Amino acid sequence: MDIHSYAQPGRIRVRHIELDLDVRFERRILEGSATLHFEPAEVPELVLDTRDLEIRSVENAAGFQLGARDPILGAPLTIPLARGAAWARIHYATSPDASGLQWLDPPQTAGRRHPFLYTQSQAIHARSWIPLQDTPAVRVTFDARVRTPAGLRAVMGAQMDGGRFRMDQPIPSYLIALAAGDLAFRELGPRSGVYAEPALVEAAAREFADTEAMIRAVEEMYGPYRWGRYDLLVLPPSFPFGGMENPRLTFTTPTILAGDRSLVSLVAHELAHSWSGNLVTNATWSDFWLNEGFTVYVERRIVEKVYGRERERMEAVLGRRELNREMTALAKRDRILHLDLTGRDPDDGCTLVPYEKGALLLATLESAVGRERFDAFLRAYFDHFAFRSITTADFLEYIRRELPNPVPLDEWIFRPEIPAGAAEPHSDAFARVEGGWPTDTGAWSTQEWLHFLRSLKRPDMPHLDHEFHLTESGNAEILSQWLLMAVQAGYAPAFPALEQFLCAAGRRKFLKPLYSALMKTPEGEARARRIYARARAGYHPIAQSTVDGIVGAPG
Ligand code: BES
Ligand code: ZN
Repeated sequence: MDIHSYAQPGRIRVRHIELDLDVRFERRILEGSATLHFEPAEVPELVLDTRDLEIRSVENAAGFQLGARDPILGAPLTIPLARGAAWARIHYATSPDASGLQWLDPPQTAGRRHPFLYTQSQAIHARSWIPLQDTPAVRVTFDARVRTPAGLRAVMGAQMDGGRFRMDQPIPSYLIALAAGDLAFRELGPRSGVYAEPALVEAAAREFADTEAMIRAVEEMYGPYRWGRYDLLVLPPSFPFGGMENPRLTFTTPTILAGDRSLVSLVAHELAHSWSGNLVTNATWSDFWLNEGFTVYVERRIVEKVYGRERERMEAVLGRRELNREMTALAKRDRILHLDLTGRDPDDGCTLVPYEKGALLLATLESAVGRERFDAFLRAYFDHFAFRSITTADFLEYIRRELPNPVPLDEWIFRPEIPAGAAEPHSDAFARVEGGWPTDTGAWSTQEWLHFLRSLKRPDMPHLDHEFHLTESGNAEILSQWLLMAVQAGYAPAFPALEQFLCAAGRRKFLKPLYSALMKTPEGEARARRIYARARAGYHPIAQSTVDGIVGAPG
């Protein structure tokens, strides 16, 4: 039972979707049809999820009825079916404000000459651009025809040939993805490549050169990559996430193009989802930790194999510290791995808890039973549940049978604390950068900089800036950390850079702490409002609603 969907997959299940869509940049809508195929109906109706869709007509059905709009769930679309009907075609258009679409004007792109569109379906936004059973418990195959204006290329997380797309492996709705814009492509390896605007594509190809090595690293541990190609798409800076694991085509923020591959653990993360998440999928959003906790664990194993143990240890320590910092501010119910999302949008459950507490549980299991046994377990888990959507209870039943272990699983998963006996990551490199004035920063990695900055108690901002030019940092992670400290310390020389950063990038992970910190003082609050008034229109609807919650909605 998925509380975030009106669909009734226990009664009737959609198996295949055929999309036929026009991308209309002038009106900011997608319009066309979705044909849903299901087993011959034995129930009188099919109930779908929609949000802000204009339903025009339904073929092969006795009309349709659009129910009342719920602010979180959207509106149920009820389609009366004749007995034995096996398909229905819905003609529809999206709203210009669709929560799962972002329509960018040319100035919001790198090339500044063409518009750009991309989808973000996770968690429950697919329903804002396709009428479907929008629950991760249901998996579908699909094919699609997408028409774009001349000169703009459409891409989907699917097999692509010309204007047609096909996904022959059953996937949950939150992984259906589309983008259109002025896109170039560079090959990275035998089965991988990168799409980006022409101005960025060379830099992206250099940054992501280790992609094939990463794919091989996971394959050695957890079995073959099952999706054919692994491509990346670099989106414009307003993309609200770091990355999104759309099958065959990871979407990423351009803010990881640091020039030195120091932020590519994000690629490792999205790639890892090809096993944890895309192959074995959370059945409900309360089971989100099965996606993200497993993925952070696998991400770190990739980083260890490709970039070495020291880099992996540093990232594990950074994650552990951030988890602690975030947990202290969270309500008890949000410190629990198996989330209680009653009455809430699943996007609100997206804290570091499913990510880092989940990964810590797996690291603890690994050290309890040994790496060899744990890897064998994980590999068998991915095989056993491949192409299925599972609950936390399914996981528990499986692990209790397959991997007897001394870890108190119920405590880890259903209680708000970090249980005693949790693995404790440690980094020798970090111990060296803590405290005192640094001398040998020349060889510091991004991770060391982050740890150093976060470990400062009362930072001497002018001195640090004078020595290390942090206000001018081109590394988005270091810059956002520095800007956060600047807000906290009232360090005015960084304020122009702060404003520029908040207007240029719409990644929620950066927006949230910066706006929250600004809101803590009256001057900061005024600054936040002024900046947000300028920046808001450029943010994705998801980021807008996050920042509305911090700064207040406009008007
Ligand atoms: N699947 C998530 C992004 C997501 C989560 C979108 C929930 C919508 C709802 C993706 O794999 C992810 O976790 N991205 C992280 C990066 C990661 C390295 C922690 C992000 O965007 O910051
Ligand atoms: Zn993830």
